[in-house]
Parts: sequence; C-alpha cells; structure tokens
Amino acid sequence: MNYLEYKQQVYDTTLSLVDIQLIRLSAGNVSVRLPDGNVAITPSAILYRKMVPDDIVIVDINGNLIEGDKKPSSEKALHTDIYKARPDVNAVVHAHSVYSIAFSTVEMELPLVCVELFSVGGPVPVMGYYCPGTPEVGKVAAEFFATRPRLKSLLMKNHGMVAVGKDLDDAYQNAYKTEIGAEIYHLALQTGKKPQALTEENIQEIMARYQKPQEKK
Ligand code: 13P
Repeated sequence: MNYLEYKQQVYDTTLSLVDIQLIRLSAGNVSVRLPDGNVAITPSAILYRKMVPDDIVIVDINGNLIEGDKKPSSEKALHTDIYKARPDVNAVVHAHSVYSIAFSTVEMELPLVCVELFSVGGPVPVMGYYCPGTPEVGKVAAEFFATRPRLKSLLMKNHGMVAVGKDLDDAYQNAYKTEIGAEIYHLALQTGKKPQALTEENIQEIMARYQKPQEKK
C-alpha cells in the first residue's frame, strides 16, 4: 500500500506536539496503526524540527522494518505492544513532558482533579521504572492498558508518559489532557492544601451529560 498519507499524518502530529512543547528536541515518539496492520512511526534520535515526512518509518506489528531509510524509534516495542493489547487503539504518543515526569518521579498518580483527567480514564497511574527502549517498557505499559480498557494515558517513572487514542488526533489530545492535568494538579498542590478530586456524584453527572447516546447502556 502507499504509506505517504500516513507518514504525513504522523509527521503533522509530531510537529503539533513539538509546537505545544509536549515533545522537545528528539525526546518522545508517535505512531499510527495502518489499515494493512503495519505501523507508521517516527525515526529514532532525530531532531523533529529537522525531520521531513519521508523520515517516518513503516514497521510491522512486531517492529520489523518494512519501509524507510531511518532507524525506527527505539520505543517501537512500546507502540506495538500497546496495539497488540488494545484493538481499539490506533495511535500512540510517547512524550517526555515535564509535569508528567515530575509526578512520576515521586510515584504520584494523577487524581481526578479536573475533567481532562477524567476523560483520559484517570486517575492516571504510574508504571515502574524500566530502562527506556527496552522490551520491559512495552510489556509493562501494555499490561496497564490491557487491564484498564478505559485508560488512555500512563505515567512512566523517571521517563515520561504515553497516551493512546482511536486515531492520531485523539492520542494527541489525550497526551495534552494528561500533561495539562498534571500541571493543574501541580499548581493546586502549591497552595499547601489538599486538592479535591471530582466525586463519584460529579462523575455520574458529567457522564449523563456528555456520554454519546450509543455509549449509554
Ligand atoms: P527515539 O528517539 O528512539 O524515538 O527515543 C526517544 C525516547 O523517547 C526514548 O524514550
């Protein structure tokens, strides 16, 4: 199949994440699951501001190179393991965003202090530390997403965060919501008071108001 359109989409999403500073320099990576089952993913260790759409690499679901001159992201297993674990997920964003990393270092999950964190299936948990780029990162992250089907993002201890979505725009928004939620939580903690999370009643009310009719049981 012709991958041009998908390479462009991954390129555009990555640059959008650079624009909002969720991704800086070459830290972080982006992928999309393709109709033929392969995956279009950002190349490894490239300054994204200097990347061109044709630098996006195509790998199969096991991370083997299908097309491209560049080396695929060293976190390719993180992306492919999540696709294997969650058939509803078609795009993955991994970011080294600062507020998410800060909370991960003290192993604090992100409670439901705002609607953004509710909409990513929070409270957003923190997975343990594993060396970036190792198979353990993908294995453990995929287990979190498999056991919590509503979960759309995860903090990765001393490393970053990973957000998933039904498409690239959704994964982009979920990454943004997670980071903005972490920033809000951080600011609230600065008051010295205990931030209040949304109550079960608040959540029920939000769901009744915003859930799409076809999602209602
Ligand atoms: P890549 O440059 O290989 O995608 O890896 C960067 C990164 O985010 C490591 O966690």
